[in-house]
Amino acid sequence: MKQSAFYVLLLAILCIACSKQGSAVTAPPTAPPPVMDTVLYKSLPFKMGASINVNLLKNNTAYSAVVTKEFNSVTPENAMKMGALQPQQNVFNWADADYLVNFAATNGKRVHGHTLNWYNSLPAWVNTFSGDSAAWEQLLKTHIQTVVTHFKGKVSSWDVVNEAFNDDGSIRNSIWVQHLGTDYIARCFQYARQADSAVLLFYNDYGQEYSAAKRNAIYAMVSSFKTRGIPVDGVGLQFHLTYTQTDANIAAAIASAVQTGLKVHIAELDIRLNSDKTKSVLTPELAAQQAARYKTVVKAFASIPAQQQYGITTWNVSDADSWIPAWQGAPDWPLPFDANYKRKPAYGAIIEGSK
Ligand code: XIL
Repeated sequence: MKQSAFYVLLLAILCIACSKQGSAVTAPPTAPPPVMDTVLYKSLPFKMGASINVNLLKNNTAYSAVVTKEFNSVTPENAMKMGALQPQQNVFNWADADYLVNFAATNGKRVHGHTLNWYNSLPAWVNTFSGDSAAWEQLLKTHIQTVVTHFKGKVSSWDVVNEAFNDDGSIRNSIWVQHLGTDYIARCFQYARQADSAVLLFYNDYGQEYSAAKRNAIYAMVSSFKTRGIPVDGVGLQFHLTYTQTDANIAAAIASAVQTGLKVHIAELDIRLNSDKTKSVLTPELAAQQAARYKTVVKAFASIPAQQQYGITTWNVSDADSWIPAWQGAPDWPLPFDANYKRKPAYGAIIEGSK
């Protein structure tokens, strides 16, 4: 009896062993996951853009490869600012801006122009210009209309006026206000429209997420433009965010822009991690928290009416190219691509957020 029980047990063990081995042999091998050659803009239901440093586009092959592959909208980071385009009065330098526009035409990218009027990045001759208000008006009009005419049919939209408000909702005391009064903003839009009847005209500003006063002032200006018949087609939310920015503030800024009924462009998105200047490396934890913020932004944007979604543009491409470290005076990693142009967790989070 004992012996037969032993053989039964042995047989049972052998059977189990055989069946295990058998299943290992006959089961389909675990296939490696298919290589998903994701393209960012093709994964999203709205345009995905980046601001472009034209020098990098010309000279850095990793940079131009990512731009060509991943984005379908481009904004010149600096090449269409007044200091770049009109370095001396009535002397225009189109070379870099034209290079970008040609790149976009060749590669099927939308071009968003930035910016016709700003208080910053002015050529020296404007800062020292002396003339009466008529001469200043002519200077403003000539710049806007020469630039809009030059790019007519090549640029889909313009940030006509950039950063005209203070955070408290008052109008910034710029060189333009000093010489032309606060209604210069409306005239910028009129001059742009006179030069191109089809191009979309945006008002663009930062801080709409943290200042209710500022977003209310922008909303009030757009409403008054509608009443007065001043042309305006869209609102740009720059969204230079910190990773601690709240969901509620992000949603409130987008909601305020949506309420205008105009197109909404998240125009300069970056999410910085080191505004307290305490960090020296990007840890996986920080990258994950940043990704969560990117997802929040995209999710909020994806939920607005489709006809108001002008798109999302990040302010440059990789952490190596971002303006944030120099502006902030401390290292940072604000963009969805790392300094080697590899995708960070934020990349996948953008796609996730759009679903
Ligand atoms: C920044 C550029 O990124 C820098 O290279 C340049 O030195 C200064 O301007 N808001 C804007 C952008 O509207 O034009 C700014 O771009 C960043 C803040």
